[in-house]
Amino acid sequence: MKSTSLIAFTTFACAASAFVIPQARDASSSSIDDTVVLNYALTLEHLESAFYTGALSNFTEDDFTNDGLPQWARGRFEQISAHEQAHVQLLSSALGANATQACNYSFPYTSPSSFAALSQLLEGVGVSAYAGAAQYVTSKAYLTTAAVILSTEARHAAWVAGPVNTENPWSGPFDTPLGLSTVYTLASQFITSCPSSNPSLPVKAFPALTFANASPGEAADVTADGVTAEGQYVAFFSGLSTSFVQVQNGQVIVPNATSLYAVLTSSNATADDSTITAGVAVLQFPFNSNGTFSSSTGDSSMNVKV
Ligand SMILES: *[C@@H]1O[C@H](CO)[C@@H](O)[C@H](O)[C@H]1NC(C)=O
Ligand SMILES: *[C@@H]1O[C@H](CO)[C@@H](O)[C@H](O)[C@H]1NC(C)=O
Ligand SMILES: *[C@@H]1O[C@H](CO)[C@@H](O)[C@H](O)[C@H]1NC(C)=O
Ligand SMILES: *[C@@H]1O[C@H](CO)[C@@H](O)[C@H](O)[C@H]1NC(C)=O
Ligand SMILES: *[C@@H]1O[C@H](CO)[C@@H](O)[C@H](O)[C@H]1NC(C)=O
Ligand SMILES: *[C@@H]1O[C@H](CO)[C@@H](O)[C@H](O)[C@H]1NC(C)=O
Repeated sequence: MKSTSLIAFTTFACAASAFVIPQARDASSSSIDDTVVLNYALTLEHLESAFYTGALSNFTEDDFTNDGLPQWARGRFEQISAHEQAHVQLLSSALGANATQACNYSFPYTSPSSFAALSQLLEGVGVSAYAGAAQYVTSKAYLTTAAVILSTEARHAAWVAGPVNTENPWSGPFDTPLGLSTVYTLASQFITSCPSSNPSLPVKAFPALTFANASPGEAADVTADGVTAEGQYVAFFSGLSTSFVQVQNGQVIVPNATSLYAVLTSSNATADDSTITAGVAVLQFPFNSNGTFSSSTGDSSMNVKV
């Protein structure tokens, strides 16, 4: 799979103390009302819906099994596709005339297995998007809508990661909330054009951040597109924890975790729109059921740069 940030993987073994107050991961929330939040969610649901519709129209059940995926996988992906369409319909009807419309997309998968790898990434990002945006929802009815979509996306994410891709079905005790621009950075690389009538969202896309040779607890090479990474910090998000590691000699030590989101920041203490200079990169590392990192169980397609 060709793309631009990395999936590598893991759980912060000891990073999370008992309770951590979630940090806002956006710089400013003043322009974010319920219509904005729902349109942000709908932007992602349109993308996911198009992703599954396109892949399922291209790949037959034989294509799935010939590529080493379980025989039953395609049928379940059909169900997921229908769920994403239902999410689009629910959010669109809640937004009425304010609903943002579908865009055109381009996804970098080339086979059923690289589609399944990208599905794992998108479902995980979907969970993190809803978790990060929850704080902006003011209507209780919309909060319920968002909660039931979030939990469904989490089931998708767990099923794709576990039974289909034989990776960890979860990352740890807490999923990871992400800021709106961080999520948009991931989504925007798949969006080629949108109707000009779509409402603009208070988000921006950051330059790409790329990891190479990443393993949990080890030094990894880090580069950023058009940005000098050296001397800046990589903020690693895992669950409700954020850790900052300075880039030295082009490298950072990656925390020992199954799943991490990483952004480059100018600050060693704050990671939000005002300090993020590149990213997000997605690092997912396969750990076996005994909690042992096992690079051999991770096929190369999981080192997807997205
Ligand atoms: C899926 O099929 C459509 C139409 O046949 C084609 O344009 C597109 O490139 C295909 N995508 C992939 C990933 O094969
Ligand atoms: C459209 O959005 C505006 C601004 O948030 C809001 O006042 C209006 O009620 C919304 N209309 C619908 C149909 O939701
Ligand atoms: C999507 O692509 C088609 C075919 O190139 C084009 O006709 C259409 O205008 C595009 N739609 C948007 C929303 O950009
Ligand atoms: C990483 O965490 C796992 C599981 O807690 C542990 O077995 C392993 O020793 C840790 N590795 C490092 C390098 O700390
Ligand atoms: C973080 O940066 C500030 C100045 O920007 C510095 O005073 C402080 O020592 C740094 N903390 C760490 C842990 O590097
Ligand atoms: C987990 O540990 C048990 C007991 O040591 C062992 O029998 C089993 O094979 C291990 N499983 C994996 C996936 O390594």
